Amino acid sequence: MWKTHNKLLIYILWIMEIRLVSSFTSAMLCGRIPGLTLPQRQLCGEMPDALIALGEGHQLGAQECQQQFRGHRWNCSEVWQRNVFAHVIPIASREAAFTYAIASAGAAYAVTAACARGNISTCGCDVRHKASPSSDGAPAEPWKWGGCSADVDFGMRYARKFLDARELERDSRTLMNLHNNRAGRTLVKKLLRTDCKCHGVSGSCVMKTCWKSLPPFRLIGDKLMQKYHKAKTVQAVRGKRGLRLVISRKKHGSAGARPPKPALVWPKRMELIYLEASPNYCERSLQSGTLGTAGRLCHRNERGPQSCDLLCCGRGHNTQHIRRSKQCRCQFRWCCQVECELCDESYEEFTCK
Ligand SMILES: *[C@@H]1O[C@H](CO)[C@@H](O)[C@H](O)[C@H]1NC(C)=O
Ligand SMILES: *[C@@H]1O[C@H](CO)[C@@H](O)[C@H](O)[C@H]1NC(C)=O
Repeated sequence: MWKTHNKLLIYILWIMEIRLVSSFTSAMLCGRIPGLTLPQRQLCGEMPDALIALGEGHQLGAQECQQQFRGHRWNCSEVWQRNVFAHVIPIASREAAFTYAIASAGAAYAVTAACARGNISTCGCDVRHKASPSSDGAPAEPWKWGGCSADVDFGMRYARKFLDARELERDSRTLMNLHNNRAGRTLVKKLLRTDCKCHGVSGSCVMKTCWKSLPPFRLIGDKLMQKYHKAKTVQAVRGKRGLRLVISRKKHGSAGARPPKPALVWPKRMELIYLEASPNYCERSLQSGTLGTAGRLCHRNERGPQSCDLLCCGRGHNTQHIRRSKQCRCQFRWCCQVECELCDESYEEFTCK
């Protein structure tokens, strides 16, 4: 298990390194990055310009993860922080599942976007969306593919090669990570949009050109958040084809009757899966890599994860009366001044005990 955290840490260090050395030649770059596995080192040598995009993708995933979990007990901040040894996710939890999926989606997204911008020499626009659409049956409006369609397959392939290449063990945690990686990057493809533009005299739309484009990354974050809530517990079973993960069944208390032998249920490709229950994230614990919620700002009169009730885990909260003066009743005076008065403002702030 420890190896798994170490790998994530090394990966984060490595991403930081990329940003620092992005202007170096590829040989120097790939040689300097610590902790790359051999396949990663090879990929790096082949396409150093894609690494810059991977760094951007990592940022994208980090920001979106923190946005989605803002104010929750687990708020995704420790995972992406630098220089903190407890920032990785030691527990194979639902939160770990989300983190891997969004990191992988970020990578696929950023590489795809970089391809479309022409920043990576070995990819560009998706040529399959260059030809005319299939001509079986007359379409309602004449249209053709045009512009630059996002080459999401390239982005997904690159993200898969690179991120999956750090999962070298064949244990259940590796299988979980690989599954969630795939769910994340595949979601980028599923959420691709078709944009069209009309041509013709004053918008008459005699002809349309259409292309595939990336949605805002927020949409991917929102979708992954839904999947996070519906994530499934899995357990490892050893079969003819080696270790596999199946959905854990709840044990039924069928007294007396012979319990039916449960069929193995494979997780669906697009759902997030996890192996272990989450800690409650209330207390600081190095072992589970959590910082605890003491001192966190909470909302007293609200429900939901950011409420003092939930965030403070029943320990209660401190109330601080804050008084400050700020500018108010500002007026514009001809010409050209703004004059304000100073008003006293007081409010309360609540923090978890
Ligand atoms: C991508 O290319 C544009 C110009 O084509 C350039 O301005 C930008 O810096 C490049 N970005 C990266 C991250 O290489
Ligand atoms: C996230 O949680 C950590 C640890 O509880 C806390 O230190 C940090 O301020 C939180 N970040 C935000 C944006 O709330």
